[in-house]
Amino acid sequence: MISRETKKAMNDSSAIRSLFVAGQQLAEKYGAENVYDFSLGNPVTPVPECFTAALRRLIDTETSLSLHGYTNNAGYIEVRDKVAKNLNKRFGTDFSANEIVMTVGAAGALNVAMKALLDPGDEVIVFAPYFSEYRGYVHNSGGVVVEVKPDASTFLPDMDELRAKITAKTKALIINNPVNPSGVIYGEDTVKSIAALLCEKEKEYGHEIYIISDEPYRELVYDGKKVPFLTLYYPHTIVGYSFSKSMSVPGERIGYLAVSNKIEDLSEMMAALTFANRSLGFVNAPSLLQKAVAECLDAPVNVEFYDKNRRMLYDGLTKLGFECIYPEGAFYMLVKSPIADDKAFSDYARDNHRLLLVSCTTFSYPGYVRLAYCVQPDMIQRSFKEFEKLAEHYKLK
Ligand SMILES: Cc1ncc(COP(=O)(O)O)c(C=O)c1O
Repeated sequence: MISRETKKAMNDSSAIRSLFVAGQQLAEKYGAENVYDFSLGNPVTPVPECFTAALRRLIDTETSLSLHGYTNNAGYIEVRDKVAKNLNKRFGTDFSANEIVMTVGAAGALNVAMKALLDPGDEVIVFAPYFSEYRGYVHNSGGVVVEVKPDASTFLPDMDELRAKITAKTKALIINNPVNPSGVIYGEDTVKSIAALLCEKEKEYGHEIYIISDEPYRELVYDGKKVPFLTLYYPHTIVGYSFSKSMSVPGERIGYLAVSNKIEDLSEMMAALTFANRSLGFVNAPSLLQKAVAECLDAPVNVEFYDKNRRMLYDGLTKLGFECIYPEGAFYMLVKSPIADDKAFSDYARDNHRLLLVSCTTFSYPGYVRLAYCVQPDMIQRSFKEFEKLAEHYKLK
């Protein structure tokens, strides 16, 4: 018999994966060209050439042990050094290798951070709509998720609600910037307000409240928008990064944590994160991948590809009468459900039009569906005829 806790978590778990599986079944039945899969953030853009070249070169020149052996639990020191220097060059930070832990993607990074920070019952604040996997990551370490609603017109956090929800048990707050699923960017003003409020609350409660900044979409920003680098605004910050999206390698499972050197007891914190990487069973981030990404830290990200998709999808759907939130970053777009029950809308679109749209109830923000547009442009183009029928069905015009 499986654990009751796990059973509950499974039943409560994300709709995204089940939609992804439904898509595969529909593709077998109707042909892949007749399924319009906007479910998963699985980028179709090719990996950067330098990544493939780095893999080839590494395999041709290094020994089996140096490429495929265990590494330090925090990762190769020379890789962490390159990551730290790259961050410093790009953001004016002052990281050293000692403040970097290589991880198994952002998911690994977040689980490691939670394990290092949380005692049972500690509260972690998340801003709806939020990446649904956070619930599992927080629960894995015995924490309790506390949700804060957004301002309905901007999708930025409702600061009054945030103030009210910080308690003596608040240990951390997750900021995901740019945001999956809304595509919104928290600009400097928002970040400064959150930082000021946390400083005030830290004083009031007499302990640290950490920001965990989840940044797999850091480079995916449009129209010249800027994503503030959180350690520059708030001392108790742990940044989680992933190469999954920027380099189109989500299956390879590689990312890192970068920890503000203004955290008190920094060496204990780094030891805890390193220990958590081991004790959670990751042991170390994939060794070959650590070396490969370290050679591609400046690889260009194909933002133009996503930007074109963003515009095409937004223009096409708004013309048909759908209400869409124009994304500023990442590769997701929210579309308002024409009926109150977004799950029923998503089911209808799947069953009648083979359109795979994720119900935002899964992101704790009912009333919308999310479309991932990290897909081939011709799929978006072909999907419009089905969206048109969907719009007719719901009498959007
Ligand atoms: C907001 C957010 N955080 C974390 C992750 C996990 O990313 P990774 O593949 O690097 O584990 C994702 C993946 O979609 C995400 O959207």
